[in-house]
Amino acid sequence: MASYDVIVIGSGPGGYVCAIRAAQLGLKTAVVEKMKTFGGTCLNVGCIPSKALLAASELFEEVSHLDGFGIEVGKPTVNLEKMLGHKSETVDANVQGVAYLFKKNKITSHQGTGRIVGKGKVEVTDENGKTETIEGKNIVVATGSDVARLPGIEIDEERIVSSTGALSLNKVPKKLLVVGAGVIGLELGSVWRRLGAEVMVVEFLDRILPGMDNEVAKQFQRLLQKQGIAFKLGSKVTGVETKGETLKASVEPAKGGDAETIEADVVLVSIGRVPYTEGLGLKEAGVETDERGRVKTDGHYRTNVDGIWAIGDVITGPMLAHKAEDEGVAVAEIIAGQAGHVNYDAIPNIIYTMPEVASIGKTEEQLKDAGVEYNVGKFPFSASGRARAMRATDGFVKVLADKKTDRVLGAHIVGPSAGELIQEFAVLIEFGGSAEDLARTCHGHPTLSEAVREAALGVAKRSIHI
Ligand code: FAD
Ligand code: NAI
Repeated sequence: MASYDVIVIGSGPGGYVCAIRAAQLGLKTAVVEKMKTFGGTCLNVGCIPSKALLAASELFEEVSHLDGFGIEVGKPTVNLEKMLGHKSETVDANVQGVAYLFKKNKITSHQGTGRIVGKGKVEVTDENGKTETIEGKNIVVATGSDVARLPGIEIDEERIVSSTGALSLNKVPKKLLVVGAGVIGLELGSVWRRLGAEVMVVEFLDRILPGMDNEVAKQFQRLLQKQGIAFKLGSKVTGVETKGETLKASVEPAKGGDAETIEADVVLVSIGRVPYTEGLGLKEAGVETDERGRVKTDGHYRTNVDGIWAIGDVITGPMLAHKAEDEGVAVAEIIAGQAGHVNYDAIPNIIYTMPEVASIGKTEEQLKDAGVEYNVGKFPFSASGRARAMRATDGFVKVLADKKTDRVLGAHIVGPSAGELIQEFAVLIEFGGSAEDLARTCHGHPTLSEAVREAALGVAKRSIHI
């Protein structure tokens, strides 16, 4: 029986990074993956394909609006097949990259579904039903998450789709109905709106992007509406009639009331994701899960069963690839006897729309709820020379700093390159920096990052350019 120091179940960003770090630390490591390719949700049907389509559709939209720069081009058209080809090429390059890294780091891969069948034992069943049992001193569960379903609405991935189907539609729908104004709904809704679909988003709550800073979410909703996305907040989809050529969705006020029918060619269900532990044998192994099906861990990724660890989407915390990766590194280091650690106050959250939205640390609402006194510094991109030159002046940078200590507690950006700019705050927060530290740091001119510095200056009410 093959025997390892570490067996990682799942090769998503959590699992594959954990395996590489474990191998770097000299541990004999194996990965069990049930899909044909490595990389998990993120590389195959998540982060990477969605960003390929976001990039392509963004270019299509930009090319249609170049006249402001004095550039006149004919009306562009979309070759969807080629665009989807670009997406597939991007995915292939990334999943092959992981296979290369496994080889380079001498990580053994076992293709098949893994099930814990006893202390330190994992049974791997391949697609032909052939089984093999492998042995490991440590088992890391990194099995990720799956789409949350709406009761009574069956996802066929053609007309009623999850994000997976929405990444592969073979024709631009005339009308796309998105259920859930979260990250997937707004990113993929943006893709298909740019390519020509009429998009309506139905959201249960009375706001979009729950959890994001409210001021940012409000401004972002206004910008999306200006782009042509329609919102129906405080509403829920209770059923979809699939007979006939057009889908007919029943939409009711969340608080109850009369239903209305909204027609669509495609319905995207994006109401969240749930931890994936099916067939893993956790119950039989005695591993505890919580009320939402997440594997319970202590602060160091240990489950209640000795030798079994868990990381990524399958445990508590934001369902983000970089969070899973950092946990992968941390758990490998802990297993190797080092002090692996993740700072959950410094995990950025980015929405890759146009403009982008990015956030880190606490929101104003969270600080108010916790009774923490804070100062706010804000700077609009309309006052940035670089943003004006780029004709990308929508949005702002907002910094929240502790009133007494000036330590930066949170930062929220809606605007051009927000996803890159937020990383300045990630470093600052990681180092326990203050708004003054950032305000005193020389920033290149003319760059968008000057807006970050100006917002930090704004905390002490001394921005220069506003
Ligand atoms: P996963 O990536 O889900 O990997 C789990 C792996 O385990 C899978 O390959 C699965 O096949 C395998 N597995 C499961 N059970 C078994 C078993 N019993 N045996 C063997 N193998 C098994 N996050 C970001 O940070 N940025 C983004 O831009 C972003 N975009 C996204 C876009 C979409 C459309 C979606 C759906 C998600 C996106 N995410 C994004 C979220 C991100 O994909 C997840 O947070 C991340 O993939 C979680 O990593 P993981 O390793 O925990 O799990
Ligand atoms: P989400 O949790 O971001 O948003 C789901 C939305 O659906 C919420 O606004 C919720 O209130 C709403 N909702 C729930 N039930 C509803 C109902 N019955 N009717 C109408 N609305 C309802 O989930 P989403 O967008 O599916 O994404 C899943 C996860 O994937 C996210 O948690 C995110 O972490 C990750 N992701 C990250 C991305 C990124 O980092 N850029 C991109 C895409 C996904």
